Amino acid sequence: MPFEWRTLMFGFVTILAVFLILADISEVEEEMASTWGSQKFHLYGILTGSNRETGLKAIPSPIAGSKEDSVSPSPSFSKNKFSSSSTSEWTFNRTLSSIIRRNVLRFLDAERDISILKSTFKPGDVIHYIFDRQSTTNISENLYRLLPTASPMKNQHYEQCAIVGNSGILLNSSCGAEIDSHDFVIRCNLAPVEEYTNDVGLRTSLVTMNPSVVQRAFQDLNSEEWRQRFVQRLQALSGSVLWIPAFMAKGGEERVEWAVRLILSHTVNVHTAFPSLRLLHAVRGYWLTNNVQIKRPTTGLLMYTMATRFCDEIHLYGFWPFPRDSEGKPVKYHYYDTLTYQYTSSSSPHTMPLEFRTLSMLHRKGALRLHTGTCRSPT
Ligand SMILES: *[C@@H]1O[C@H](CO)[C@@H](O)[C@H](O)[C@H]1NC(C)=O
Ligand SMILES: *[C@@H]1O[C@H](CO)[C@@H](O)[C@H](O)[C@H]1NC(C)=O
Ligand SMILES: *[C@@H]1O[C@H](CO)[C@@H](O)[C@H](O)[C@H]1NC(C)=O
Repeated sequence: MPFEWRTLMFGFVTILAVFLILADISEVEEEMASTWGSQKFHLYGILTGSNRETGLKAIPSPIAGSKEDSVSPSPSFSKNKFSSSSTSEWTFNRTLSSIIRRNVLRFLDAERDISILKSTFKPGDVIHYIFDRQSTTNISENLYRLLPTASPMKNQHYEQCAIVGNSGILLNSSCGAEIDSHDFVIRCNLAPVEEYTNDVGLRTSLVTMNPSVVQRAFQDLNSEEWRQRFVQRLQALSGSVLWIPAFMAKGGEERVEWAVRLILSHTVNVHTAFPSLRLLHAVRGYWLTNNVQIKRPTTGLLMYTMATRFCDEIHLYGFWPFPRDSEGKPVKYHYYDTLTYQYTSSSSPHTMPLEFRTLSMLHRKGALRLHTGTCRSPT
């Protein structure tokens, strides 16, 4: 009897194991099958606000011209026809851009979520890090002094905005003047501009600063020289929004505190902003709901998602998550430093090639414009 019972259990466990393995395989297959083609299919839903069914009916029209205009999911990207966008035809689709704005607004209101405000916190309030929920920090006296009393983007609206990513694709692009001609220019991670003006421009309306930048680009402000460089970089911003994601991941609190102290003790004309604690999940939620399976959005995608709130036409420069350009020439990860990066590494928190394919698709549909080629020099 006990023996039979054991046999029975063994059989049952075996069947269960086989079932689980099969289920796992089919899940993997499903993931693998979610090629670019099916992503486009899902994305059609975002853009129209339609559900799967109506998306299916409508699919033949706008994206069916597929073979030619689809972007290869291959990470190497080198044989892709997606190249110099400045020569290709592009028309802004205002209708589509408003639909996207409305859909994003269901998840976040960038005017509000761009920063926490003085009125909602007091010094000493404990905050759980967004990505490390177990770890906490608190609002220091100094940080509190830099919290805005109202949204730095209150009632602002722009016809044309540029978002400048930091890819080495910008080198020798001559895009500086074109970038600066936009009404509002967003830059990422306090990237240097003065030495690269011809390619990246100079104007900055909003710039982000991850705490890690203090370490990587300013040597943790560990000498008077680096502190001065940091202050000078901020002084060059005059009037811009300085957007500091201070509460994303643990480990940056001292850096934020040092930076905050320097801002307070020098004459620096910036409007500091600290993203709301719900922003990241909301942005991720928007893209996941539209079947773009990102892990953590990159700063670039965050900025695009937020900019839909303030900008009609959004132009992206310096977004290129591939080690080679369309002609096979090497492209630096950042235009200004020697950092290298595994774009497709599964351990990376970002999913850059996927983000890029998504943005490329939005470019083809006229929702945004992705500039990846050189710019015509002004005549
Ligand atoms: C603009 O986008 C809307 C919504 O996707 C679409 O219905 C319309 O046909 C597009 N217009 C043009 C000119 O492509
Ligand atoms: C806030 O954090 C600092 C250092 O991170 C710590 O020394 C201080 O005790 C904390 N204050 C409160 C009220 O939790
Ligand atoms: C940019 O152009 C200069 C001069 O033609 C050249 O030496 C340099 O290698 C180019 N850089 C890149 C990244 O293409």
